[in-house]
Amino acid sequence: MTRVIRVNPEHPEPEAIAAAAEVLRAGGLVAFPTETVYGLGAHALDAAAVRRIFAAKERPAADPLIVHLSSVEDAGAVAADLPPVAQTLAARFWPGPLTLVVRRSRAVPDVVTAGLETVAIRVPAHPVARALLESSRLPIAAPSANLFSRPSPTRAAHVLEDLDGRIDLVLDGGATTVGIESTVLDISTAEPVVLRPGAVTVEMLRELLPHVRAMAGEDSPDAGSPMRSPGLLLRHYSPRAPLTLYEGDHAPVVERLTADAGRARARGERVGILAADDDPIEGEDVIRLGPAADADAIASRLYASLRELDARGVDRILVRAFGGRGGLATALQDRLRRAAAGRIVRC
Ligand code: TXA
Ligand code: MG
Repeated sequence: MTRVIRVNPEHPEPEAIAAAAEVLRAGGLVAFPTETVYGLGAHALDAAAVRRIFAAKERPAADPLIVHLSSVEDAGAVAADLPPVAQTLAARFWPGPLTLVVRRSRAVPDVVTAGLETVAIRVPAHPVARALLESSRLPIAAPSANLFSRPSPTRAAHVLEDLDGRIDLVLDGGATTVGIESTVLDISTAEPVVLRPGAVTVEMLRELLPHVRAMAGEDSPDAGSPMRSPGLLLRHYSPRAPLTLYEGDHAPVVERLTADAGRARARGERVGILAADDDPIEGEDVIRLGPAADADAIASRLYASLRELDARGVDRILVRAFGGRGGLATALQDRLRRAAAGRIVRC
């Protein structure tokens, strides 16, 4: 049985947080909201507890986890030696949606890092996550709280959809705000590289780290090298129905997408479509994610909308690519290309 406790997202009730901390101390699994997506947490230094995360999610053991900390001062428990740049980045971006890959300490079980010599760490900003980290006084290993290869959960209901009966507790703090996973920045070598784009953009990082490289999300969705981030090569962020992404200028994209949707419907398929508010695209299963220019708004609704279309039982999902302004524009493109897994129509 999975317990669900509703918590106030701004001022989480101390009894709820204490109950969750107790589950973590006992080696159990707790799903909790962060500002990006819900995480599935376990005591990071308890190898048996961390193995339960992999079992519950059916996650491949080769995909390492992020260790969540209550502050940069706690990094000593899991990281070998923080380079000075980590302190600078932490001062600027923590708490927040930035994950740093650094050299690991021996104290971290191999199951957390998938045997790598590095460990990923992040200080989340969500009040519920912060309260849990402070109350438990534990480093918390937490991947996104979804079944492997399903879209990350942005609400407690999504966590239950995938993991009900497999985990001990869900802290339900409502919808997350960012809606897309944190930026992963590898600073473990002389050449810092963004392994996964997120709300902390390459442009923001360049203000402190002029030489940072963007690996994923720029041109090729699978540009991440297997050595640097095993998880990024695996199939990710997918709804159940095959998703096709239409890239190019607005008019040809709308025309081609509408024509393909018509043909699929003529074959008897139910077609789900993700569009912007003003797109001239009609149909029963069209979900409008926000103003075309507002990448942040669109990103915050992306995963919930993919799950919604799956719940309606659509046979295929067609998505127009979103350009737009906002910190999440690059991350949005990266996640949509991954979800499309190569089914990209250039118009
Ligand atoms: O926003 C987030 O980052 C959420 C919340 C819960 O914090 N977590 C999350 O975790 O998205 P997960 O496990 O779904 O994604 C973590 C990514 C994976 O692609 C993994 O391969 C990469 O971080 N990663 C973890 N440790 C790493 C390491 N030592 N070196 C390189 N990549 C690593
Ligand atoms: Mg994940």
